[in-house]
Amino acid sequence: MTTNLFTPISLAGQTLPNRIMVAPMCQYSADEGRATDWHLIHWGQFALSGAGLFMIEATAVNAEGRITPGCLGLWNDAQEEAIARNLARVKAFSDIPIGIQLGHAGRKSSAFRPWEGPGHYAPSQGGWLVKGPSALPFADKWPVPEAMTADEIAAVVADFAASAQRAVRLGLKVIEIHAAHGYLLSSFLSPRANQRTDRYGGTAENRRRLPMEVFAAVHAVCPEDVAVGMRINGTDWLEDGITPDEAVAMAEALYAAGGDFVDVSSGGNAPARIPVGPGYQLPFASRIRREVGITTITVGMIRSPLHAESIVTCNEADMVALGRGFLNDPRWPWHAAEKLGHTLEVAKQYQFGATSQYRPTVGR
Ligand SMILES: Cc1cc2nc3c(=O)[nH]c(=O)nc-3n(C[C@H](O)[C@H](O)[C@H](O)COP(=O)(O)O)c2cc1C
Repeated sequence: MTTNLFTPISLAGQTLPNRIMVAPMCQYSADEGRATDWHLIHWGQFALSGAGLFMIEATAVNAEGRITPGCLGLWNDAQEEAIARNLARVKAFSDIPIGIQLGHAGRKSSAFRPWEGPGHYAPSQGGWLVKGPSALPFADKWPVPEAMTADEIAAVVADFAASAQRAVRLGLKVIEIHAAHGYLLSSFLSPRANQRTDRYGGTAENRRRLPMEVFAAVHAVCPEDVAVGMRINGTDWLEDGITPDEAVAMAEALYAAGGDFVDVSSGGNAPARIPVGPGYQLPFASRIRREVGITTITVGMIRSPLHAESIVTCNEADMVALGRGFLNDPRWPWHAAEKLGHTLEVAKQYQFGATSQYRPTVGR
C-alpha cells in the first residue's frame, strides 16, 4: 500500500520527510521567557515521534507579547541561549525538522496560565497593560487594550524581525508567524477588533497591512532555505469578523509576497459558536489551497490516520497538523504508519516497539 501522508514535501529549501506536523502548543512553563527542562522533555518526546515537522509553541517577540507570564520568548540573549541548549540536546538524538511560531498576544496578553483559571494579571501582580488595534476588549471582564500608536506598530514589526534573526541563528528552518486566534496580528485582521481609521484599519487591505509588514520584515532576515509562513484564521465564526473570503485574500497576499505556507485555523477574535468536529477547519484550508495554490496546512480535531491520509490524497491540504492528538499519543505517526502500511524509521533504541506486532529481541 502506498501512502500520501508519508510522502516528503518541500518547504522553501527544506524537505520534510512526511506531511504530519506537531501543532504549536504553548506550555506556559518558561522562566522569564526562557525555555526550561519542561521544554526539553516536551520537545524530546515529539522529536522521537516520527512527525515531519515539530513546531515550537507561540514564542513572544517581546515581553508584552506573551499570552501569560509563563510563555516562551525570544527577544533577549538568555532566551536564545536557553532554546539553543535544549535544541542541542534534542538534536543529538533526532533529525526531526523543527520550526518555531513567533507571535504577539496583543489584547489577549497578560493572562493567567490555563490551570490558574480565567483572568488576567494586573500590572501590580506582574502583569502588564495590554495593547491592541483599538480600545476594545476581547469580551466582558477582559482588559481594555490601549490602541497602538504608529510608533508602537513599527516597534512590533522590528521585534518580529529581531526574533526571526535569533531563530535563524538557532538553526530553526521553519518560521510560522502567528496571525490567528485573536492575538495581535489576528486582531488587526479582524474588523471585530480593529476599528482604526488610519492605514492599519478599515478596508481588508488596510487590516492586512500589519501582518504583511511583519511577514516582509521576517522574510527579509531569513536565508532562502528558511521557510516563512503564517497561521491565519479561515474565519472568525462571527458576522462581523474575518470571513473565508478575507482569509483567501490574506493567503493570496502572503503567497504573492513570497510566503512558503499557510496554516489555517479559526476563531479567537470574540466568543463565538464554533461547530467543532473532526476536520472542522478543513473547508477553509481546502478553499485556500484550491484558489491560491500556496502550500496549505490544516489543523483541528484530526485524529484518525485514515482521515489524515484522505485529506492529503484528495488534495484538500498539503500537510496535517495535530495538537491534542499528539499530547494524547506522542507517537501518533508510528500508529498512523502502521495503520497505513508504511514502514517508519524510529530511533534504534526503540526499534523493537515500532509496531504493535512483537518482533524478535535478539535473545535478550
Ligand atoms: C495546550 C495547547 C496549547 C496551544 N498553543 C498554541 C500555540 O502556541 N499556537 C497556536 O497557534 N495554537 C495553539 N494551540 C492550538 C493548536 O495548535 C491546534 O490548532 C488546536 O489545538 C486544534 O488542533 P487539535 O484539535 O489537533 O488539538 C494550542 C492548543 C493546545 C491544546
